[in-house]
This record gives sequence, structure tokens and C-alpha cells, in this order.
Amino acid sequence: MLITPNRQDLNKIVVINPKGGCGKTTLSTNLAACFAKRGPIPAIMDCDPQGSSMTWIERRQDSRPPIHGIAAFKRTMQATRSWQLRVPQETKNLIVDSPASLSHEDLREVTRDANSILVPVLPSSIDIHAASRCIADLLLVAKIDRRDQKLAVVANRTRKNTKSLQKLMRFLDSLGIPIIAVLRDSQNFVHAAEDGIGICEMQPHKVKKDMEQLEKIVEWLNDWQNRRYQTADKSTIEQSPNVTLLRKPG
Ligand SMILES: Nc1ncnc2c1ncn2[C@@H]1O[C@H](COP(=O)(O)OP(=O)(O)O)[C@@H](O)[C@H]1O
Ligand SMILES: [Mg+2]
Repeated sequence: MLITPNRQDLNKIVVINPKGGCGKTTLSTNLAACFAKRGPIPAIMDCDPQGSSMTWIERRQDSRPPIHGIAAFKRTMQATRSWQLRVPQETKNLIVDSPASLSHEDLREVTRDANSILVPVLPSSIDIHAASRCIADLLLVAKIDRRDQKLAVVANRTRKNTKSLQKLMRFLDSLGIPIIAVLRDSQNFVHAAEDGIGICEMQPHKVKKDMEQLEKIVEWLNDWQNRRYQTADKSTIEQSPNVTLLRKPG
């Protein structure tokens, strides 16, 4: 489905959950705005035929820090896929906004080479159920290894300490998957979406609480190389002769 660049310095961030309305585009666009503010230019690859991320980029005024949009859902006969899906050389963060439903093959393709996978979840029973299926598919179909620390959940439109959030946390805890941020239900996100901006581009005093949580996500994403090295360390340890000796029975 996708051609993605195989670059060592690129954090490929996949925002995924087949449940429509859980906040994939909201999260994708707000993260992109944060990265754009700090530079270098980030890219959003919009894989959803609804094209909401691309519409958001089109709404963005030229005076704003630029974000490169890749309409991965558009397939024309004139242009080759590789040209359509080209990511600028200076880009360090590529955010993939995924569609509502994906075949198993597309799920494997969209998550291939991903360094960070974010699953936004609304904490209602129906949404938690859908999210658990999505996470199961990521682990079993896309073969994401939890120990690689690539996978994290963002609770969206949530009040802290509600029963539904606690239920979601217990479920994820049992799987060893972290909830890295809790975004509240806030009109700031709605207004930002309308104006083609991220909440980081709104008046700071209005978005303080929301930004605190968004910053946590940015921090987790920016740490992708450390997460990768921790994993690499682990596999080195597991392969070392001492460990092999220790594992031998008797
Ligand atoms: N934290 C939030 N607070 C308020 N509204 C939100 C929040 N997150 C998403 N929304 C709104 O919910 C709707 C669906 O979100 P969206 O990001 O488009 O979901 P998805 O891309 O998963 O279908 C949009 O109208 C968006 O503005
Ligand atoms: Mg969307």
C-alpha cells in the first residue's frame, strides 16, 4: 500500500485505530504543528480517503511553520507512487494518519518500519473494546513486539480518574502497554482544527492544560532512538554467551 523511505534518521510515527472519531487526525495534526514549530519541516502522510489531515494542511496559512502533506490515499495514473509519497530529505518526523479500516495486509504495510505507534482511545466501553482488537491486531498481525517499546496509547477526550479511564488503564497494564498522555475533551482542539493550526499555536494561557499532555507525547516520540537502543541492548544481552550459559538447564 505504501512506499515509505527507509531512513535511519526518520521517526516514522503511525497514528492508528480503526475506530472513527477516536482522534487520529486531531493527534496527527497537533503533533505535526508541534514539530513544525521547532523545525525541521515535518510530514503528514494522510492514508485516510476522507483526507482530513490534507484538508487541515490546506487550511493552514502560509505564515505558519510549514508542514509537508502527502496524500497517500490519492492514486493517479499519471504519477508514480514513489513520487507521490516522497518525504522531504530534511524531515525528521513523518506522521502517518491512518484510515478507519485496514486489511491485514495494509496494517502490516502501514506499520512497517514504524518507530512509534500511537493508538488514540476514547474511554467508553465500545471504544475500549475496539481498541483492544486494534492492539491485538498490532501484536499478532503486524507482529509488533511489545518489548520494542514502539507502542503507546493516548487516552482522548477523557477526564482523569474516571471509572472508564481506570478500566482502560487496567487493560493496558495487563498487556504492558503505556498510556503516555490523557487529553481532555476540549474545544481548543475543535477550534485549532477549523483554523489549520495546532493547539501549540494558540494563546498559551488557553491551552496550558492540553499542552502539558501533548508535550508528554512529543517527549515520548522524541525519545525514539533511545527506545530503539534499549531494545538493541536487550537483544545483545539475550544473545550473550553468559546468558546462554545461565539458561542451560542444570
Ligand atoms: N480531545 C478532544 N476534544 C474535543 N474534541 C475532539 C478531541 N479529539 C477529537 N475531537 C473531535 O472529534 C472529532 C473526531 O476526531 P478526529 O481526530 O477526526 O478522529 P479520527 O481521525 O480518529 O476519525 C473531530 O471533530 C475532532 O475535532
Ligand atoms: Mg481522521
